[in-house]
Amino acid sequence: MADKTKTRSPQDLPSLSRRELVARLTEAEETLRAVRSGEVDAIVVKGQGGEKVFTLQGADHTYRVFVERMNEGAAVLSSDHTVLHCNGRFARFLGRGLQSVIGSSMLDLVWPEDHPELDALLRRAAQRRCRGEIRLQSRKGAPLPVHLSLNPLRLDSARAVCLIASDLSEMKRAERALRASGEQFRNLAAHLLSVREEERARISREVHDELGQSLTAVKMDLAWLAGRLARGNGQMLKRIRSTVQLADSIIQSIRRISTELRPAVLDLGLAAAVEWQVQEFQARSGVPCKVRLLIREVVTSNASTAMFRIFQETLTNVARHAKATRVEVVLQKQPDRLVLLIHDNGRGFDQADPALSNSLGLLGMRERAAILGGQVNISSAAGKGTTVTAWIPLPSREESGAIPAEIPKIPA
Ligand SMILES: Nc1ncnc2c1ncn2[C@@H]1O[C@H](COP(=O)(O)OP(=O)(O)OP(=O)(O)O)[C@@H](O)[C@H]1O
Ligand SMILES: [Mg+2]
Repeated sequence: MADKTKTRSPQDLPSLSRRELVARLTEAEETLRAVRSGEVDAIVVKGQGGEKVFTLQGADHTYRVFVERMNEGAAVLSSDHTVLHCNGRFARFLGRGLQSVIGSSMLDLVWPEDHPELDALLRRAAQRRCRGEIRLQSRKGAPLPVHLSLNPLRLDSARAVCLIASDLSEMKRAERALRASGEQFRNLAAHLLSVREEERARISREVHDELGQSLTAVKMDLAWLAGRLARGNGQMLKRIRSTVQLADSIIQSIRRISTELRPAVLDLGLAAAVEWQVQEFQARSGVPCKVRLLIREVVTSNASTAMFRIFQETLTNVARHAKATRVEVVLQKQPDRLVLLIHDNGRGFDQADPALSNSLGLLGMRERAAILGGQVNISSAAGKGTTVTAWIPLPSREESGAIPAEIPKIPA
């Protein structure tokens, strides 16, 4: 702090001119302003006995100004939680005057629902420093969320607690806005995914039915033509046969494209679709895959479509990244949810790798489950294989929010 000094010589006053008096008065006012604002630590006054230094309570004063000026609320509580001192900011947090806060019980200043939290904090603060969040009961109306930092203190020989409160209302507002925009994005993602699924199902049906049927009709016409050709017309017959073969291979492609868009087997239920996908995976990757289907009835719903897409992405990842020699799959229907577990004995990966922050495959899996109130958990470590556990609540029941107590175990 600046160590300004000001001088006074009262015995000189009678001989001063008017202009000098005004100058002295201006200087005195400036000194007073500086004292009030804390710019001055000491004043030197010239008197008969020489110069005299008046310190303004030394460090105490500095701290008082500091505490008054900080953006945080500060208070000292007695052991029975009465406010002994507080700064103006703390009183302003409460929408009260300083005098009405000093002498109040801290419990009366806190939102009633937060009394248990405050109680616990104050008990802890008697022993050691601690932190927490509570809402102050502001006279302005709405409760004011604050972060509290508490420290045990000794005032002379009495126990006390020193408290610093930081206003969290701006942060809470930002949190709420972020949550709302996150929710909007999730709704948008849910909408886009469901539109995409519907679109895929429609295109798959049209490709299969319309193109497939038309090509079958072309084949029949070709067969009719071949039957009516004169016997000696070998060249023409050969060309017709090769066109029939071409039509057959186009029909095969149509089936494959239609199935990739949306396997029709999904209409027979998730278990059938999982089994079909496992066969495809084994045929393409050559990695043996053991399946346990602990599911009796046919499950067809958004949950089963989402689970199937998660399963497809997981198997694609195994084929692309794992270098596994064995894969095990368990599908289970619990009373209120579907649970799918996929384990590979491949090289695993480090989930904390910053490069994964942009991994859309894993994000898409998590998002698909989250949209329906479920979750995807991945446990993996380099060299230790990977286990993906996904669960999705079934639509008929209320979502319980907890991870199922009984997740099927992969046999060792
Ligand atoms: N079963 C697994 N075994 C080993 N590594 C895996 C496995 N699954 C995922 N990974 C690692 O996690 C990364 C992210 O997977 P993710 O599916 O998000 O992306 P991707 O497969 O690389 O690309 P895409 O967006 O096309 O799916 C992979 O690049 C791979 O390094
Ligand atoms: Mg992937």
